[in-house]
Amino acid sequence: MIPYVRLAYASTATANPAHIRNDLIQIFESAQQYNFNHQLTGVLLYGNGYFFQYIEGRKPEVDRLYQHLLKDLRHQGVSLLFYDVVEQLKFDQWGSCYTHFEPPIEHFFRQHQLAGFNPYLLNNQLIHSFLDVLYSRNSNSSASATQALRGLEANQSSYVMSLKDMATVGVLILLILIPLYLIVTLMPSTSGFFLF
Ligand SMILES: Cc1cc2nc3c(=O)[nH]c(=O)nc-3n(C[C@H](O)[C@H](O)[C@H](O)COP(=O)(O)O)c2cc1C
Repeated sequence: MIPYVRLAYASTATANPAHIRNDLIQIFESAQQYNFNHQLTGVLLYGNGYFFQYIEGRKPEVDRLYQHLLKDLRHQGVSLLFYDVVEQLKFDQWGSCYTHFEPPIEHFFRQHQLAGFNPYLLNNQLIHSFLDVLYSRNSNSSASATQALRGLEANQSSYVMSLKDMATVGVLILLILIPLYLIVTLMPSTSGFFLF
């Protein structure tokens, strides 16, 4: 039986979340092609400015890709979460690129009382149960990069919506404060006028 290796790492995106879209498209596209050609399977997650990637395949291929990844300027703070030998591959394909907004992933982080998606918090105990979530997610569907980006954009637009809501509240507060301010500042002169 051919021994395979698998690894997972956490890293931090260098692009601002508002500008991550282009990086994600490029990464997903090159990964799709390269990983298929080199029989690498796994998953890449992006969320909250973090990446989580799980890669499995033949040792020379996995090691080569990891060396490339370490030099990639689109992320930093690469932290290897584990690296081990396996007899069987768990993922049947590459292409499971999606974001942490997927309900099973969000649920996993909530269930373990972790404040949102942060792969750096996946310690030795948690990482394997997290992988089980990803394995079952992989067998249920094959989310494409486009779906992942749609998920990301939907959540970004709800974030923008909440910023708009905050702006509305700000304007309302100003509408209340300005008349109040005018009343208070005019009051002394008014009372002064009457006193005089
Ligand atoms: C978070 C992240 C994950 C990546 N995952 C892969 C991947 O799975 N497969 C791949 O071929 N490139 C991936 N890349 C891109 C590689 O780092 C690198 O750009 C690519 O292998 C080309 O390397 P080269 O420019 O040295 O030839 C990823 C980049 C980042 C930032």
